[in-house]
Amino acid sequence: MTAVVTIRRPDDWHLHLRDGTMLSNVLPYTVERFARAIIMPNLVPPVTTAGAARAYRDRILAAMPRGADFTPLMTGYLTDTIEAEEVARGFKSGAWIAMKLYPAGATTNSHAGVTDIRKIDRVLTTMAEIGMPLLVHGEVVDPDVDVFDREAVFLDRILAPLLDRMPTLRVVFEHVTTAEGVEFVINTPHQVGATITAHHLMINRNAIFQGGIRPHMYCLPIAKRERHRLALRRAATSGNPRFFLGTDSAPHRLRDKENACGCAGIFNAPGALELYAEVFDEDNALDALEAFASLNGPAFYRMPPNEQRISLVNSGTRIPAAVAIEEGEAVIPFRAGETLRWRLVAG
Ligand code: NCD
Ligand code: ZN
Repeated sequence: MTAVVTIRRPDDWHLHLRDGTMLSNVLPYTVERFARAIIMPNLVPPVTTAGAARAYRDRILAAMPRGADFTPLMTGYLTDTIEAEEVARGFKSGAWIAMKLYPAGATTNSHAGVTDIRKIDRVLTTMAEIGMPLLVHGEVVDPDVDVFDREAVFLDRILAPLLDRMPTLRVVFEHVTTAEGVEFVINTPHQVGATITAHHLMINRNAIFQGGIRPHMYCLPIAKRERHRLALRRAATSGNPRFFLGTDSAPHRLRDKENACGCAGIFNAPGALELYAEVFDEDNALDALEAFASLNGPAFYRMPPNEQRISLVNSGTRIPAAVAIEEGEAVIPFRAGETLRWRLVAG
């Protein structure tokens, strides 16, 4: 029997689109599914000025498939030296709507990030005053902290003290991966939301080592133990408005993943919404998909939800084995070559 799920058109609140031929080849997967997306600023060089954000948005719009209806929501990249005035000016002019905090060295293209959160106190104070969200990559970079503990330690050492100092700052704890992160978001009295990726709902850390090293399962924050995955699933399907969809689709060329020092990032844009549908279906929570995918994010960002509707039917989506980027270059998607249960059909 055909089952149909119809929801408001969703948005992706955490996305890496890259630039150039990578951008033009991965963008169609996102615009087919999502009306808006928060575009991550960790380009090389990073997006640290409002002018650079405007120029990047123009390149994204120029790369859009004909007839597509999609709005990129731009963000800026915090550095030790970024000026509060530049951040505020860009926010007021609409060049960017949020700033991203990468602790320097935490993840892909984060070396220009923030070395000490106290160095950007003035910027963060301004953001709290103007109501501009801070998007956080929540991992400490201290080499003494085990890679699987870096998120939980970040909450204690960095985020909790930050919110004590700046109680009105609005924060999105990006790609939460731990039970501790979920608890923090649920229990904090502050304005903290969190995005959750489809892959962290589907895999635990065993997937990275299944029968050998699996570079396409490697992302940051790294997948954790099973109990954390289950905590994420409960959070996503709970309907709690603090949790919303953010794919963290992060494409890297095959040769940069299958490498002696492979890049972090999972490319899940092909089938992104269908992956979430599979998770919600498995947990008998399809009735909570619309809140997570289409309502909670806009509410946090103080935007109207999308008016259009999309439907998913249970007739299967085949994920490509590879996505070509240019001559001889490809990206391998999450669940490559597999058939997912749900398929997207127009509203
Ligand atoms: C992201 C990337 O490749 O840009 N990688 C990842 O593993 N998620 C950066 C990030 O979001 O951490
Ligand atoms: Zn990311």
